[in-house]
Amino acid sequence: MVKAVVLGAAGGIGQPLALLLKANPLVTELGLFDIVNTPGVAADLSHIATPAKVEGYLPADDGLAKALKGADVVVIPAGVPRKPGMTRDDLFKINAGIIKDLATGIAKAAPNAFVLVISNPVNSTVPIVAEVFKKFGTFDPKRLFGVTTLDVVRASTFVSEILGDLSLSKGVVVPVVGGHSGVTIVPLLSQSTHALPSSLDKSAYDALVNRIQFGGDEVVKAKNGAGSATLSMAYAGAEFAAKVIRAVRGEKGLVTPTYVNLSADAEGASDLTKELGEELAYFSANVELGVEGVVKISPLGKISEDEATLVKAAIPELAKNIQTGVTFVAEAYKTEEPRL
Ligand SMILES: NC(=O)c1ccc[n+]([C@@H]2O[C@H](COP(=O)([O-])OP(=O)(O)OC[C@H]3O[C@@H](n4cnc5c(N)ncnc54)[C@H](O)[C@@H]3O)[C@@H](O)[C@H]2O)c1
Repeated sequence: MVKAVVLGAAGGIGQPLALLLKANPLVTELGLFDIVNTPGVAADLSHIATPAKVEGYLPADDGLAKALKGADVVVIPAGVPRKPGMTRDDLFKINAGIIKDLATGIAKAAPNAFVLVISNPVNSTVPIVAEVFKKFGTFDPKRLFGVTTLDVVRASTFVSEILGDLSLSKGVVVPVVGGHSGVTIVPLLSQSTHALPSSLDKSAYDALVNRIQFGGDEVVKAKNGAGSATLSMAYAGAEFAAKVIRAVRGEKGLVTPTYVNLSADAEGASDLTKELGEELAYFSANVELGVEGVVKISPLGKISEDEATLVKAAIPELAKNIQTGVTFVAEAYKTEEPRL
């Protein structure tokens, strides 16, 4: 029995994500919450012939708590997407408060759930959730994840395109580490399961790295004001959620990059910190998942000189993004009493 809950379920990501979770036969209950339209989305999805019982809730009558009751996995794509000309700071100002409120709701109604954060900027929204959970004594770093799977999915796709065969893409695995925005996204192409063509010169390599780092901009531009990646993000979010669900049900050996608090595996993280040469509280690394969530955080391993340069560039930006999230919660609690 697995109950999955989507917060922001009526949105551009939320709807197709809810569809993919409904299509997942391991999900037996699906709770949908949004400030609008969830009854309709739930009614629509409930006609699909798969095991999950679907229910949609709005904020009235304690809808958030009702949606979250008994949740095993909570996925959060609530908030505002980036529009052309909008910076990540602009986005942060709008989404930070939404995430803080939803995290409070989770601390209250589903303190043991696995929480998967999609809402941007992930580098800062994950620390917001953690800080809220700490306030309420429900923080378990093994159960909190920033969803960076879209970067991994893009890397697989773009490398397959370069190899001239998209049918390879499902099997092309490239660890993407660091964080989840711009220069903090570090694809370790030297560790790809499929080597890049030896004919690929430095400028083509740089263009590939840049496309993985800024793939989101490609979509924002093409959508021309109508939002950011939704369908590919829903696919990526459902892939990651499915891995967490399989791990929770006892499957072993599931490894995938995700943005986590490094205290989730202090031993693994100490090797990673040595490699980074700097202490960071959060980092996206290859993580082994298990029944309790994070089992093992892997170090970077052998990386190329180009990749070492990318990691170096990511660190100060990541540190700044993490602090932004932590400070937001500290500031908010200066003027308001943390209340469940
Ligand atoms: N992690 C990633 O790789 C990735 C990729 C793309 C987008 N995103 C982010 O995902 C988020 C959602 O994007 P989208 O395109 O689906 O946006 P959207 O505007 O289409 O949908 C967002 C939904 O959140 C809902 N919402 C707003 N406030 C809420 C609240 N307090 N409680 C519950 N629901 C609330 C809205 O009503 C809306 O239905 C954005 O922050 C976007 O930047 C992340």
